[in-house]
Amino acid sequence: MIIPNPSTTKPSAGSFALNRECVIGVMDDGNAEARVGEYLHGLFAQSPFEIPLDITHFAGDAPNRSIRLLKKPSDHADIGEQHELAVTTDGITISAHNDAGLTRGIQSLYQLALQQVGLIDSTSIKEIRIPAIQVTDKPRFGWRGMHLDVSRHFFPVNDIKRYLDLLALFKFNVFHWHLTDDQGWRVQIDAFAKLTEIGAKRADNKPSGSGFYTKKDIREVIEYAKLRHIEVIPEIDLPGHTQAVLAAYPELSCTGGPFDVSQTSGIHKDVLCVGNEDTFKFVTGMLDEIAELFESQYIHLGGDECPTDRWKECKKCQKRMADEKLKDETGLQGYFTTRMVQHLEKLNRVGVFWDEVLELGLPAGNVLMSWRGMDHGINAAKQGHRVVMSPHSHCYFDFKHSKDPSDHGATWADPISLKEVYDFEPIPAILDAKAAKNVLGGQANVWTERMPDFATVESMILPRMCALSEVLWSDAKDRNWPDFRKRLAALTPWLEKNHNVHKCIHGD
Ligand code: ACM
Ligand code: ZN
Repeated sequence: MIIPNPSTTKPSAGSFALNRECVIGVMDDGNAEARVGEYLHGLFAQSPFEIPLDITHFAGDAPNRSIRLLKKPSDHADIGEQHELAVTTDGITISAHNDAGLTRGIQSLYQLALQQVGLIDSTSIKEIRIPAIQVTDKPRFGWRGMHLDVSRHFFPVNDIKRYLDLLALFKFNVFHWHLTDDQGWRVQIDAFAKLTEIGAKRADNKPSGSGFYTKKDIREVIEYAKLRHIEVIPEIDLPGHTQAVLAAYPELSCTGGPFDVSQTSGIHKDVLCVGNEDTFKFVTGMLDEIAELFESQYIHLGGDECPTDRWKECKKCQKRMADEKLKDETGLQGYFTTRMVQHLEKLNRVGVFWDEVLELGLPAGNVLMSWRGMDHGINAAKQGHRVVMSPHSHCYFDFKHSKDPSDHGATWADPISLKEVYDFEPIPAILDAKAAKNVLGGQANVWTERMPDFATVESMILPRMCALSEVLWSDAKDRNWPDFRKRLAALTPWLEKNHNVHKCIHGD
């Protein structure tokens, strides 16, 4: 009864009584598993459980009544997150070739436990019976992402941790953190302090309109994610979606401003001036700090929805176009992108871009995120680019769940039902085997214009993220809608007790 559906599951008779008399047994051949043991300890030490398991190191035979974490030797490097989970009446064993695999096995065990607690009316459970089962598992895709926009509304670190806990529970491994947009700049940059002094504050003083993460906050989130084997990929959206930057530094615009941090949604015409060399000083200096702060090999640089109106009227931009022999303003964004990528290369990082950048000429080695449907992703994959599929037809969790007039969500888009998410296929049949290999995976995007608090975020992602997790983790042949609904029903009492869940969890 696990979501996403494992490769193989064999239930057997009986159950294991997990209580304070059990221990976590960590095989003593290095210290790496110790952190995995601490993660497991933390899960059962926190509400609704009150089962703080001791961690014991062992060399030969594992201790009795233990949850054993076994690292198996690996004869090939790219073993990914493959793992096994065996629950018998005597003990539990999780085995994998690396910490990521052990962590995914722990997450399956935790789900099995949460299904049992859903119906227990207590927040301090001292014993839980885990049904006997054998699971072998590995993911289909290496990029299983959830995005969160913290610009349109700001969510404090504790909310981000709750978000990461949900990602972990459903075995997502990428957190795409949309940190900047017209409506707010949310990350401390020492060389450009006005980005947060001015760019993180909206004048209307509405809840969650203002706020930013210090570097300490960001490091705390990265550590938290790392323990859950989730990669944190920052997005700095450039050169459009930058009105908050221009509020702080109007001299980087084409007109000189002044600007406010935007209080309205939609596409904004004032963007970075690409004719001004100071723009490049700003962007490269800012990215140096981003690269120092974030550990991921990827940095997302946006590239979406950049109007060219101001560039058309700007002497500096027009001069740049003439000097660089660029055909039109689209070429100007291409020029900007190329310079950004050159800087990322110096920083030893790979760029991720929204799909508009394919038309500008995506520099080789970078990743395209297909959002305006699948076609841009298909074309990019055929051209040899790596691709993440995130089409707004299936993956935009800011859209409503249903046509019900009381449903919350974007009003201008068709709803995306749970079943539609479940039916999403990241590798379209049109791609041949070689091009299909370029599809790294997929992700949902969570734009928060209409999500002023975390409870609303939860009601938009739950239960749709459960369906998406199965799309991205399970083999296509292991996807089965009626069976998914049964497994979701098993987890529903706990989900509803602890989170704000959309009512479609009970049927569509
Ligand atoms: C996007 O939704 N503008 C990437
Ligand atoms: Zn300009």
